[in-house]
Amino acid sequence: MLFSLKLIFKEFGEWLIVVKRYYYHPRFLVIEVMLFILYFFSNPYRLCRRYFNQKAQEGQIYGETPLTTYVQVIQELSLSASSKVVDLGCGRGRLVFWGSCFTSAQMVGIDCVPAFITRAKWISRLVKLSRIEWQCTDILEADLTQATHVYLFGTTLEDSTITDWLIKLREFPPGVQVITVSYSLLEYEGAADFELIKEKEMDFAWGKSSVFFHQRK
Ligand SMILES: C[S@@+](CC[C@H](N)C(=O)[O-])C[C@H]1O[C@@H](n2cnc3c(N)ncnc32)[C@H](O)[C@@H]1O
Repeated sequence: MLFSLKLIFKEFGEWLIVVKRYYYHPRFLVIEVMLFILYFFSNPYRLCRRYFNQKAQEGQIYGETPLTTYVQVIQELSLSASSKVVDLGCGRGRLVFWGSCFTSAQMVGIDCVPAFITRAKWISRLVKLSRIEWQCTDILEADLTQATHVYLFGTTLEDSTITDWLIKLREFPPGVQVITVSYSLLEYEGAADFELIKEKEMDFAWGKSSVFFHQRK
């Protein structure tokens, strides 16, 4: 009970910061309103749980990176107009939308839950975002061609999925960065092609957690 109250206050505080810093941007404001309306009666936690239950896969618990934390992640990267940033497992796509409105990079959102991607595409069309791309597919099937940065907040992904994904990442050219939350890729077999370039403590709903920045050698 106390934990839930603290969480509500924390999220409300975060939202006030987001309002103050980013709601001056008309497109982002419309996106936030649309996300609120579209998920008011079917929340993302339930949509995600239902999808994975139907697939008889367990352990996929929805959660979102606080926007202010993601902004800190982005500030650690040197993005330019030639960057392509992928949110692998993007959920509602809020981070992807923010990136599209406030950076010059191309943004890509990938998730296997069709309801997330259908709605994200619809909002993108509504507000006429151009440098944004959505893929409804599994992490292991995702097209990561020309990605320069990949953000993976997949704290409930199975170890075998991450190990299989690392095999796919061998195709990446040198210099590509992979950012993970709460665990480093180096904990997994097959990560020898990557080096850890920095680790930062950042704020998440459950408290502080490490964010790991890796680079393909
Ligand atoms: C913890 S949420 C992260 C949402 C967003 N990236 C963020 O940080 O706010 C993880 C997302 O990964 C998606 N996901 C989990 N397993 C996946 C898989 N194998 N392929 C594609 N998406 C997956 C889930 O549907 C969920 O939306």
